[in-house]
Amino acid sequence: MVWIVILILFLIGVGVALIFAIATVVALFFAKGVPFVSLPQKTIQKIVQQVNFGKQDKIADFGSGDGRVLFAFEKAGAKNLQGYEISLWPFALSRIQKFFKCSKVKFYFTNFHSADLKDVDIVFCYLMENALKSLKDKFAQELKPSARVVCFGFQIKNWHKPEIIFLNQKNKEIDRIFIYTIV
Ligand SMILES: C[S@@+](CC[C@H](N)C(=O)[O-])C[C@H]1O[C@@H](n2cnc3c(N)ncnc32)[C@H](O)[C@@H]1O
Repeated sequence: MVWIVILILFLIGVGVALIFAIATVVALFFAKGVPFVSLPQKTIQKIVQQVNFGKQDKIADFGSGDGRVLFAFEKAGAKNLQGYEISLWPFALSRIQKFFKCSKVKFYFTNFHSADLKDVDIVFCYLMENALKSLKDKFAQELKPSARVVCFGFQIKNWHKPEIIFLNQKNKEIDRIFIYTIV
């Protein structure tokens, strides 16, 4: 009897591991090679300080990972937050943390290309250049005037002229944000 229970638990474990492995491969395909890499908390704090936001501003994280950027905005007072994540593992982490933090951040397990941006005030992206390039038309068509796109590390090439803020003088090539304001 005990062996049957152990076997069932083992098979469940293998099944779950298989689901996560397949989901990760599928996600990497759709994520155009943008992997799940989290920003250090120190960097996130600097970003939150540098981005002027109102408490009611709608803030979206495109590729929200484990949710840490949105949790930091929430801690700083933002009330209207939503994350879009295509990879199952970081999405699961964000939902688990949401539960334990009693957070009101909304996390969607979906491709950010399907997000509705019409009321969004700020879009945060920590994505590589090819993924940003694929979003340029969506930002231009859907975001309202005065909305902002905040990109960490990488810029949207051949678009509006961004404001550039360096977060760390010792690592100017990566630790910077590009802020684009829609006109
Ligand atoms: C570099 S991580 C950034 C994570 C988080 N924003 C942070 O700063 O800690 C980029 C995330 O974007 C996700 N991603 C890439 N392409 C995506 C897409 N098309 N739709 C939703 N999420 C995507 C990846 O799975 C990954 O978790």
